[in-house]
Amino acid sequence: MSAPRIGIFGRGRLGSAIAAEAGDALSWQADMGESPSGPVEVVIDASVAGAVEEHLAWALGTGTDLVIAATGWTMPDLEARVAGRIGVLVSSNFSLTVALMARMATVLGRFAALDSARDPYLLEHHHRLKADAPSGTAKTLAAALMAGCPRKTEWTLETPAPHQLSVGVLRAGAEFGRHTVGLDAPAEVLELTHRARSRAPFAQGALQAARWLHGRKGVFTMEDLAADLLDPLFTFGGKP
Ligand SMILES: NC(=O)c1ccc[n+]([C@@H]2O[C@H](COP(=O)([O-])OP(=O)(O)OC[C@H]3O[C@@H](n4cnc5c(N)ncnc54)[C@H](OP(=O)(O)O)[C@@H]3O)[C@@H](O)[C@H]2O)c1
Repeated sequence: MSAPRIGIFGRGRLGSAIAAEAGDALSWQADMGESPSGPVEVVIDASVAGAVEEHLAWALGTGTDLVIAATGWTMPDLEARVAGRIGVLVSSNFSLTVALMARMATVLGRFAALDSARDPYLLEHHHRLKADAPSGTAKTLAAALMAGCPRKTEWTLETPAPHQLSVGVLRAGAEFGRHTVGLDAPAEVLELTHRARSRAPFAQGALQAARWLHGRKGVFTMEDLAADLLDPLFTFGGKP
């Protein structure tokens, strides 16, 4: 299958980073008030939460596969709306390294679940202009931690109750995105931190997702793409 032609909604920081990585595959880029200038196989939505609904309607109307990179929105009936008519891939973070971290967060949660004195937690720091908080990545990592630690059923930014996961959010300066999942126990602490040095990992991952999605039907996440690549890394034991 030849490389799909790509369109991008949004000319902001992420949209510009994707355009810089896309090369000849990029057909058009449309900001607010601009219209797509022709058909493409896959469109990447790097705009804002409030525009996602409109961009989904455009993708369904034109039969274009859609990668949604914008964060801070919810659509409980997304699956029903898509109804297998096009491919849609949603991810709050397109870095494969973060997908690896989510798997490790689940293992960390499982380890916490073995002893109620071990508290899992999550910290995130982004630049001062980021609109949504906690970040979509933080919510994904929180879900991964809670999946491993069933006594934690929801996250909170407030002083947590025993069934809640404590999440800390910082909005300051120019940080591209730093996430830490941790475990605090009476006598020891374990932390795992991911820090993006630029938007390049998100841009490259969004383009990788667009190529993977083209030709598939239904709703997917980065998880589906990552499973093939990362799950074999979690096999241990056995003799060499
Ligand atoms: N999934 C990931 O890996 C990842 C990574 C980084 C960021 N993000 C998310 O991606 C989104 C964009 O981030 P950013 O840092 O690039 O934000 P940004 O710099 O504010 O860019 C957003 C752009 O979208 C444009 N826009 C607004 N409404 C639009 C519409 N209806 N159609 C087309 N474009 C529209 C804005 O135009 P105006 O300035 O004219 O309003 C702006 O150029 C955010 O939701 C962010 O959280 C996701």
